[in-house]
Amino acid sequence: MGDKARVPEVVTTVAQIREQVAAARASGKSIGVVPTLGALHEGHAALMERARVECGYVVVTIFVNPTQFPPGEDFERYPRDPEGDMKKAVEVGVDLVFAPPVSEIYPPGDCTVVEVTGPLVECLCGPHRPGHFRGVTTVCARLFNIVGADKAYFGEKDYQQLLVIEQMARDLRLPLEIVPVATVRERDGLAMSSRNRYLSPEEREAATVLYRALSEAKRRFEGGEREAAVLVAGVRESIGGEALVKLQYAELRDAETLEEMGRLDRRAVLAVAAFVGEARLIDNVVLEVQDSPLECGTG
Ligand code: PAJ
Repeated sequence: MGDKARVPEVVTTVAQIREQVAAARASGKSIGVVPTLGALHEGHAALMERARVECGYVVVTIFVNPTQFPPGEDFERYPRDPEGDMKKAVEVGVDLVFAPPVSEIYPPGDCTVVEVTGPLVECLCGPHRPGHFRGVTTVCARLFNIVGADKAYFGEKDYQQLLVIEQMARDLRLPLEIVPVATVRERDGLAMSSRNRYLSPEEREAATVLYRALSEAKRRFEGGEREAAVLVAGVRESIGGEALVKLQYAELRDAETLEEMGRLDRRAVLAVAAFVGEARLIDNVVLEVQDSPLECGTG
C-alpha cells in the first residue's frame, strides 16, 4: 500500500503539531503547509498536490478563522465538512491535518494583530470587507509560526490575498517561501470555491457569467485592446446582463502593486467580485503584456 492510502493524523493543539513537525524535520523532511478554511474542493487539492510534490511532509490546516469575517458575513454558516475534508486529505496523501479550536489560535486575552497597510489592502475586496485582510494576515502569521513550514501554498483565485501574504512574508522576513498555485475551475469555467455550495441550480448556472466575462476581456486584450476602461466596461456589460448576479466590482489593476491602470502597458490583473444569491464570489484573470521586439518588422 502506497503513501496515498494512509490516513493522516489529525491534531488540534499547538504542542501536538510542533512535536509532529519536529519529528518530520529530524528525519530530514522539508515541510509544506496549506492553510484552508476547510470544506475542501479540487482547488484546495491542487495546493495540497503541489505541496506533496515539493515537500517531504505536508500539513493542511483547517480553521474557520473568525477574525477574517467582518460583521454580517457568513462565519456562522460557513460550510463545515470534516468527513469530506478527511477524504480529500487521504486522496492527496497529506501527512498531517491541523484542525485547532478557536481558543488554540486565539488564546483568551490575546492582543496581537498582524496587518499589511497601504495600497494592497485599500482596493478590490479591502473596502468591501473591512478588517478581512487583517484577519487573514493575523491568522496566517500565527499558523506560520506554529507550523514552522518551509513553503506555504496559496491559490491565485484569491489573488489579492496572495499578494498581501507575500507582502507580509517579505516585510516580516518570514523564513518561508510563498508558492502561488493557478486557479482550478469547474468544467464550465466557474472557479472552485467552498461558497459555491450556497448556490441554487439557477444561481450556479448564472455564476458562469463571471469567468465568461473575464475570458471575453482576455480575448479582447489578446486581440490588441489596451484600454482598461474598455475592457472593464465589457465585463460590466456581460455581468450586468445576468439578472441573478449582482456585481460588486470589476477592476483592472497592476498585477504586482494593484495600482490602477489606464493603458495596459504591463502585467495586469482583471478582478471581479459579485453576489450570486447569498454567495459572494470572486474571480480574476492575469493579462500578460509581452514585449514586442518584432515591432520594427522585416521592412
Ligand atoms: P480558503 O478559502 O479555504 O482557501 C484556502 C486556499 O485555497 C487559498 O490559498 C485559496 O486561494 C485556495 N483556493 C481556493 N479556491 C481555489 C481554486 N479554485 N483554485 C486554486 N486555489 C484555490 O483563503 C482562505 O481559505 C483563508 O483566507 C486562509 C488563507 C486559509 C486564511 O484563513
